Amino acid sequence: MVTYKISGARRLCGELDAQGAKNAALPILTATLLTRGLNIIENCPRILDVEVLLDILQHLGCKVTWEEDRLLVDTASADGDSIPEYLMRKMRSSVILFGALLGRLRSGEISSPGGCELGPRPINFHISAFEQMGVVIEERHGCLHGVLEHPHDTTINLEFPSVGATENIMLLAAALPCTTTIYNAAREPEIEDLQAMLCSMGAGVRGAGTPVLVIRGSGKLRPVSHTIIPDRVVAATYLIGAAVTGGELKLNHVQERHLNAATTLLSQSGCQIERLPDGLYLKAPERPRPLGVVRTMPHPGFPTDMQAIFMTYAALAQGCSVMIETIFESRFKHVPELRRLGANIVVDGRMAVITGVPWLYGATVRADDLRGGAALILAGLAAQGETRVLDNGHIARGYQTPEHFLRLLGAKIEALEGHPPALPPEEERDRG
Ligand code: UD1
Repeated sequence: MVTYKISGARRLCGELDAQGAKNAALPILTATLLTRGLNIIENCPRILDVEVLLDILQHLGCKVTWEEDRLLVDTASADGDSIPEYLMRKMRSSVILFGALLGRLRSGEISSPGGCELGPRPINFHISAFEQMGVVIEERHGCLHGVLEHPHDTTINLEFPSVGATENIMLLAAALPCTTTIYNAAREPEIEDLQAMLCSMGAGVRGAGTPVLVIRGSGKLRPVSHTIIPDRVVAATYLIGAAVTGGELKLNHVQERHLNAATTLLSQSGCQIERLPDGLYLKAPERPRPLGVVRTMPHPGFPTDMQAIFMTYAALAQGCSVMIETIFESRFKHVPELRRLGANIVVDGRMAVITGVPWLYGATVRADDLRGGAALILAGLAAQGETRVLDNGHIARGYQTPEHFLRLLGAKIEALEGHPPALPPEEERDRG
């Protein structure tokens, strides 16, 4: 348990380098399993989800070594074919290991990933695609056991452009001696990064960034050296940190086109944004204008992973914004906590109406998921007085030492380890 203790209402100003993308790192590290030998992964974020995945890779027999933010993954003797439940449970996206195991060994077993903090997260698209690709899947005692029996050319029509299902299919397809076509594939930048990695390994993958992906697999994929793309959600978080504190930020090594949805909203609401050759510069407005109606959508739409952090921004705007969450059922858990800090937000089903207030006020709040936790830290940075964000490890899943980087920008924030006293009663948490 970590408590982020923040003395807010201080301008964040300065310069930062973007960290590597969590959602690219996870499939890319998983893809190393399709090879036998030493893979070198550059710009890998040192975050909890990556550490959990490395535990799984080591459990399967990989040798893993960190050299600063470079990771060496030696897959030569990885012969494990099943992932125990306690490791699967630590990270829901470990389901993409199923595709990699089937690709490497032609069989594999994972425990059924359960629901998580964002509501039920089914894997029916993954299972149905694998069955179409020739995998025979059985459920045994809560485990999914798969055997690849008849690999053949396959055309898969995804009902929804699921990121995880697209990646899982790509991982298996890259290792098969046939061609797989995905219609309605996810188009996120992380899919482009996985395509680049699989192509370096020797597979023929094209179409990433469009709804049609064609994967020509190879029975012999080689180890590679690959650099992970910058994290667009983390980048947007720091930009908003500057925007809600009246600050300015130069963010280096971001890919501006990955951040279009965020920068469009930020500049429409009054932030000054400048594109630099290798990054972005943001200067906050005195007070943001409202955001209008923002609907989360698959890429290139507004990302669900930025909904919570933009809600903190909207909470301080001069007027009313509406956010509609279309991707996940249960993604407004940060709302009651933002209200404790003085935000005026009303939720009706999947819609939140945010009426901006001039100030938020420090209180004790609890992070219930990764991006919601980041939204609370941002709110604490903007709020007058002291905010304590109690976090049971959600934030560190995706943010590498946020307290360190925020301090570099002038924030007063500490990460206190250990069990904090029990959360005060509701009435005392407000303005507490
Ligand atoms: C990934 C990202 C997550 C992001 C999400 C949407 C990673 C590690 N995680 O999650 O940060 O919020 O994309 O951009 O990259 N669905 C089904 N059946 C399936 C699969 C998905 O019904 O078999 C539904 C989900 O319940 C959800 C929607 O499809 O409502 C989107 O899920 P998906 O794109 O698969 O998200 P993840 O890959 O889990």
